[in-house]
Amino acid sequence: MKEIDKIQYLNVSEISEIFHQKITENEIEKYFEAGKINGIKIENKWHADQEAIDYFIKNVILKERTYNVGLHTIVLSNIKLTGRILDIGGGGQAIISQFKGEQVVAIDSNRNELEEAPDSKGLKVIMDAKELKFLDNTFDTVTAFFTLMYIPVEDFKIIFEEIYRVLKINGNFVIWDVLMPVKGNDKRDIFFIELKVKIFDKIAETGFGVSWDKEINTDTFTNLAKNIGFETLEKKVDKDTIYIRFRKN
Ligand SMILES: C[S@@+](CC[C@H](N)C(=O)[O-])C[C@H]1O[C@@H](n2cnc3c(N)ncnc32)[C@H](O)[C@@H]1O
Repeated sequence: MKEIDKIQYLNVSEISEIFHQKITENEIEKYFEAGKINGIKIENKWHADQEAIDYFIKNVILKERTYNVGLHTIVLSNIKLTGRILDIGGGGQAIISQFKGEQVVAIDSNRNELEEAPDSKGLKVIMDAKELKFLDNTFDTVTAFFTLMYIPVEDFKIIFEEIYRVLKINGNFVIWDVLMPVKGNDKRDIFFIELKVKIFDKIAETGFGVSWDKEINTDTFTNLAKNIGFETLEKKVDKDTIYIRFRKN
């Protein structure tokens, strides 16, 4: 980041980071060269200010590369999450920490996501969900709020097994996620959802974008969970989102 006349300019790597490197530094460089990001060269390296980046996201990324399923509303206020909660991928907007405060241990493999998350009374720990550092039977509840969409399908099994292991008997594993259709020949390569999350009288607005490189259907999580030993207690589909509650018996 460079500052000139009180305006901050991000470099190629920092812009790529906004997209969790899903849009590579090489691609960002090419967008600058093609004039699709209105940039300036500082010390011979491309940079752009926030206004140029916002314009690029709205007019290039969202229009040319994104399958946007639009705005969905999630109401958390009546959702029961009891006891000590482990929130998987709990950085970002840290919605479950915003909802349940000091009950929550939020883990995320990306330090920045935790550091930049809104303040909460919960604990934040850098940890990979594939290798949880907790003892068996530690948590009453585990949550994954629009996290699995960010995780490669081949990692789902080990992550579900880890979650099962750290949950207490009768503990619940609660998932909110997207239904992602097969991409087929569609040229767009980013899946995007806008969310309005109601937490009591507070509304959090956010958007989650991820490479459109997998399919998530209504059975993706339930089949896997069943094989590991979970019982499905609830499963609700609302347009392009799914909410599921499992129990470890
Ligand atoms: C978009 S966020 C999910 C939204 C977040 N739960 C919220 O409330 O805003 C997905 C998060 O999952 C994290 N993540 C991806 N793979 C992970 C893994 N294997 N273990 C832990 N966290 C992971 C990412 O770093 C990212 O912060």
